[in-house]
Amino acid sequence: MADQADKLRKMVDEKKKTKYRAIALTSGKGGVGKTNIVVNVAYLLSTIGKKVMVFDADLGLANVDILMGIKTKYSLLDVIKNGKKMSDIIVKVNDNFSIIPAGSGVEEIANITEPIFTKIKDELAYVIKDVDILLIDTGAGISKKVTFFLKNTEEIVVIATPEPTSIADAYAMIKIMSTNYNKENIKIFVNMAKNELEAQSIANNLNNICKKFLKKEFKIIGYALNDKKLPVSVKRQKLIAQTNPNSVFSVSMKKMINNLFKENIKVNENPIARFFASIFGG
Ligand SMILES: Nc1ncnc2c1ncn2[C@@H]1O[C@H](COP(=O)(O)OP(=O)(O)OP(=O)(O)O)[C@@H](O)[C@H]1O
Ligand SMILES: [Mg+2]
Repeated sequence: MADQADKLRKMVDEKKKTKYRAIALTSGKGGVGKTNIVVNVAYLLSTIGKKVMVFDADLGLANVDILMGIKTKYSLLDVIKNGKKMSDIIVKVNDNFSIIPAGSGVEEIANITEPIFTKIKDELAYVIKDVDILLIDTGAGISKKVTFFLKNTEEIVVIATPEPTSIADAYAMIKIMSTNYNKENIKIFVNMAKNELEAQSIANNLNNICKKFLKKEFKIIGYALNDKKLPVSVKRQKLIAQTNPNSVFSVSMKKMINNLFKENIKVNENPIARFFASIFGG
């Protein structure tokens, strides 16, 4: 009997064994570009052969599927309430890229409790066996439904924009993660800057506040400038990294990937430079 129980436990442990890298993107303030960054980074990683899964952790206000123009049949709510397995709700974008949709406009899922979070975590462990990178797109704010995912993820990327409210909220998030949850692997990304100088100054400001009050500073993994083409892509429900891989935003995502994953995605920054490079054999 004991032997059988042992075997069963081993089988479960085996199923849960993983080698993936999980990264949660968060911000404090809403609307700073988290979801756009997550889906475009995920898509680009999939094009270089990485198995990527996006977990839409913006419970109740999920956007990942909408941004990609994907119609989903099921969502996390079906796992929580209707006995579906996580594998039943996964949507495959391509061979390397899958998403776990969270369900939108569902109050029940926005107000979930600790045992349900644990169920989500356990269920997730079964479907990430073959995944290299798990990207978690959290909602805005510091409610439990956001902090649950953050405290269960080792690596956290905090997104800030040049708005003072966004910087203040990014710092608040870093402070909570670092002080209350002892997170050390926190990184900073600046979005929607008007130029490189502004992006650098935002990142440095944020790090200076962290140095002063938390006695810590964090790695800056890049920035993205304001790109008018992005909202156009969003409206068309297309991924800009796919439809316009040399746009300002797409290039920033590639640079972030090279920074964060030590990958070498080719960055074609400037079509004119590329033209000259091709003429001169570059
Ligand atoms: N670099 C950028 N340049 C121009 N527009 C941008 C940029 N980044 C994001 N946006 C725009 O900002 C809006 C908000 O983006 P997104 O939904 O990704 O933010 P979010 O942080 O996920 O929001 P929420 O907190 O509501 O989940 C989108 O309409 C998007 O087009
Ligand atoms: Mg979002």
